[in-house]
Amino acid sequence: MGVSGCGKSTIGKLLAQELNIPFFDGDDFHPKNNIAKMSSGKALNDDDRLGWLQTLNKLAIKQLGDKGCVIVCSALKESYRNILKTNIECSSKWVFLNGSFKQIRERINARKGHFMSSDLLKSQFDTLEEPKNSIEIDISLSPGKIIKKIKKELMNNSEFGLFGLGVMGKSLCRNLANNGFKISMFNRHVDGVEEDVAKDFKNQYSELSEAEAYDDISAFVNSLQQPRRIMLMVNAGKTIDYVIEDLLPHLSENDIIIDGGNSNYKKTKERFDYLKPKGIHFIGTGVSGGEEGALKGPSIMPSGDLDAYNNVKIFLETISAKDKNGKPCCTYVGPEGSGQFIKMVHNGVEYVEMQLLAEVSTILESLGQNPDEIANTLESWQDEASSYLLEITTNIFRKKEGDDWLVNKILDKAGNKGTGNWTTIASAELGVPSTLIASALFSRYISFYKEERVELNKNFETVNGAELNVTTKEILEAYQFARIVNHYQGFKLISEASNKSSWNLNLSEIARIWTNGCIIRSSLMEDLVEVFKNTDNILTNLELINLVKNYKPSAKKVVSQSIINDISMPALSESIQFLNGITTEYASANIIQAQRDYFGAHTYKRLDDDSDKSYHTNWN
Ligand code: 6PG
Repeated sequence: MGVSGCGKSTIGKLLAQELNIPFFDGDDFHPKNNIAKMSSGKALNDDDRLGWLQTLNKLAIKQLGDKGCVIVCSALKESYRNILKTNIECSSKWVFLNGSFKQIRERINARKGHFMSSDLLKSQFDTLEEPKNSIEIDISLSPGKIIKKIKKELMNNSEFGLFGLGVMGKSLCRNLANNGFKISMFNRHVDGVEEDVAKDFKNQYSELSEAEAYDDISAFVNSLQQPRRIMLMVNAGKTIDYVIEDLLPHLSENDIIIDGGNSNYKKTKERFDYLKPKGIHFIGTGVSGGEEGALKGPSIMPSGDLDAYNNVKIFLETISAKDKNGKPCCTYVGPEGSGQFIKMVHNGVEYVEMQLLAEVSTILESLGQNPDEIANTLESWQDEASSYLLEITTNIFRKKEGDDWLVNKILDKAGNKGTGNWTTIASAELGVPSTLIASALFSRYISFYKEERVELNKNFETVNGAELNVTTKEILEAYQFARIVNHYQGFKLISEASNKSSWNLNLSEIARIWTNGCIIRSSLMEDLVEVFKNTDNILTNLELINLVKNYKPSAKKVVSQSIINDISMPALSESIQFLNGITTEYASANIIQAQRDYFGAHTYKRLDDDSDKSYHTNWN
């Protein structure tokens, strides 16, 4: 592309020849009326151009089905280029032949039989909106050099860079390469600790034969096509900032950094704001699915600038898991750190789902079931409560080490990497009662006091399940009850954050990208995709209301039986407490208000006065 006289046809033909792909001159595709209009000396307007640009777009799409092609077209405006690249945003490459007005006028004047008035050329320069994402070529170079430069950018350079070859980074590299993308991989060099990590990794897998391996940051960045797409798979936290600083001197305007770690969403916004004035796009994305998901298809939750997303969309969507309709479990979530926010909530919901499974397994154990029997019970729930976490928990209970079950040998202290902590903080900051997430988080913290638990256990006698009177059906129903409340709370947190930050998040679409690839995929999540098409509040959906009503008696029985039998059941209990709270018409908060007014003159509002007036009473 470029203004008339920049040398498009010459360079285009040479390039097509060099790449051995077809060449098309856009001007040959004008419809009759455009040709007639131009022949009568009139300029085409945007309406005249629309159909023609769409024809060229169709041509490009068709040719991409084969080996691609070179099309030359002035494509002066961004809007024209948007039409030309519709549906092929990532597979189309722009080469901008750039020259000055003087340079081009002299060239035109030197051409035999070619005339263009200065005014007309000037108007082309006025119209020209320089492309941001293009291979920019200085037309004063010789055609040979120009072709060499374009070819180097197009052919030799990688389309996508992966920075950080930990477990997730490696799996994503293999996933990208398996999908036919040309990638560059980077891992730092640390003497004696991390040496030749990228090279060794490349040599391990045949699918990486075309991938490039680096431990030199500058060579890595220079191996990438511009605008560069670099995905960071490094530890969340300060490391991300150090890596950004290391990369910055090597980057150019419009390059894109994608942070695929579990970063704090507020940090993502700060990094986005820091990089924006430098012309660097920053996409924060949640990636869920663990090592296997990253390799075979994770759920991906990117956010930031939509334009930048469109530039990396093809990579992320191709490597992501697919939903039941074959659509990618990857979507543009929204602005700023919204992708990382929803990943954080995903993890909060994950904590609760895990905790609930731990709690119901404990009740099953108290009923006398051994790990194999617990596995059988959990497996029998798959029809009604199908989920990935239920499936892996079933497998966990079956795993033996020698004569004993492995699960019996694992130290009962739960670790965490901080996302559940952040979700709890975020919900407190936003004033949203995500009580189950807090409960699951604090259960992990309680578990961590192993030594104190052992010590205090000696001081308190417990019944410990001796008189437990519940059926496995009731336990399943209690579990299902708590899961609905968990999903209510998780999506409530997302919806409130979205409203507060004007992110305009689409809950149904979020549920959809969580139906596969991620840790909390389940049949309930499938149902929520439809539920959220009509409401933001799942407890207003008739089917879910009925389910909650049907399950509640079992939930009450299981929780009360657990309390009577001294079995710790924090998340299951909280699910009932929360539902009771959120469905209570008159809460006990009037007492709190009276107390606040009593000791601090904080005032209160009255039920018998809806004027919003504040009252204070002299309580003595
Ligand atoms: C996922 C997981 C993943 C990871 C978390 C768990 O969606 O793939 O959530 O992100 O398992 O790091 O965090 P904790 O270590 O806090 O349990």
